[in-house]
Amino acid sequence: MKLLISILGKATGYLTLVVVLIAAVLHYLDYSEPGALPSMAVNMESLEEDFRQQNKSCFILGATGETGRLLLKELLDRNLFAKITLIGRREVTFEDKAYEKLIQEVVDFEKLEDHAPAFQGHDVGYCCLGTTKAKSGAEGFVRVDHDYVLKSAELAKAGGCSQFHLESSKGADKGSSFLYLKVKGQVEAEIEALGFDRLSIYRPAVLLVERQESRPGEWMARKVLSSCSFMFPSMSVPIQAVTRAMVSNTVLKPEHPTEILENKAIQTLGASPTK
Ligand SMILES: NC(=O)c1ccc[n+]([C@@H]2O[C@H](COP(=O)([O-])OP(=O)(O)OC[C@H]3O[C@@H](n4cnc5c(N)ncnc54)[C@H](OP(=O)(O)O)[C@@H]3O)[C@@H](O)[C@H]2O)c1
Ligand SMILES: *[C@@H]1O[C@H](CO)[C@@H](O)[C@H](O)[C@H]1NC(C)=O
Repeated sequence: MKLLISILGKATGYLTLVVVLIAAVLHYLDYSEPGALPSMAVNMESLEEDFRQQNKSCFILGATGETGRLLLKELLDRNLFAKITLIGRREVTFEDKAYEKLIQEVVDFEKLEDHAPAFQGHDVGYCCLGTTKAKSGAEGFVRVDHDYVLKSAELAKAGGCSQFHLESSKGADKGSSFLYLKVKGQVEAEIEALGFDRLSIYRPAVLLVERQESRPGEWMARKVLSSCSFMFPSMSVPIQAVTRAMVSNTVLKPEHPTEILENKAIQTLGASPTK
């Protein structure tokens, strides 16, 4: 009996060691991933102030979603824009006074051409639109994540928008054999071809958020991921980091007209509270 316990004890010890070693290797691989931003030597606050002085306007697509809602809150908190327009398929009511100044444009995404004026006169556009195959079927997914997103970007560009910020996904690749990643990669490339003065593409991994609607599978995945996110930082990202990164990045000057922020860069930029 004693012998058995001692063997078991040793086995558990070895197993723990192996798990820790694997975790360490994965951790190392995560952090050697390219695409991290240089540490921010710039003074965020003064950049934000300069930006604020320009009375710019922006629109948000998908402001009723998990990312969009938080992005809107972050934009209001940091007060970067003189005017914020929400473009969506339904009107939303807000209790908070901070939301009073918002403009809402309700559009029919199947007839976006008819709503061209809604997309006119914005300096910056943010897109957090999206659905899933599970929710809308494969065809519905392509319609939203590709057709609606691309058309909106086209109308925005035609309407004078100079900066477009697109929430895409980790692994987006137009050559992928997975529909999700392929569509994300395609829409990235097609929007790049529109020639915005500036296009910022964000590729977050699994978003860590307490989702309002219930998706049991995702909920389990999030629980597991968030509890070991310190070991596997490239597999997930807190949703606040994504929205903070999107807002901070808006006032930074990119090196190239198109920039891609991978999960690591989002974590770096989104980690620093700027206030
Ligand atoms: N969830 C993740 O872990 C994850 C990871 C990486 C990347 N992403 C990507 O990040 C983006 C945002 O994700 P999220 O989880 O924040 O999204 P979400 O909570 O599901 O919100 C989606 C937004 O898109 C709108 N929308 C969906 N279907 C629509 C339709 N048929 N017509 C018009 N509007 C429609 C929704 O409007 P209503 O409120 O009116 O439905 C909502 O505002 C998506 O592109 C997603 O693929 C997500
Ligand atoms: C921005 O708005 C303020 C207040 O309405 C005004 O004083 C200022 O001149 C405007 N700045 C620009 C660059 O338009």
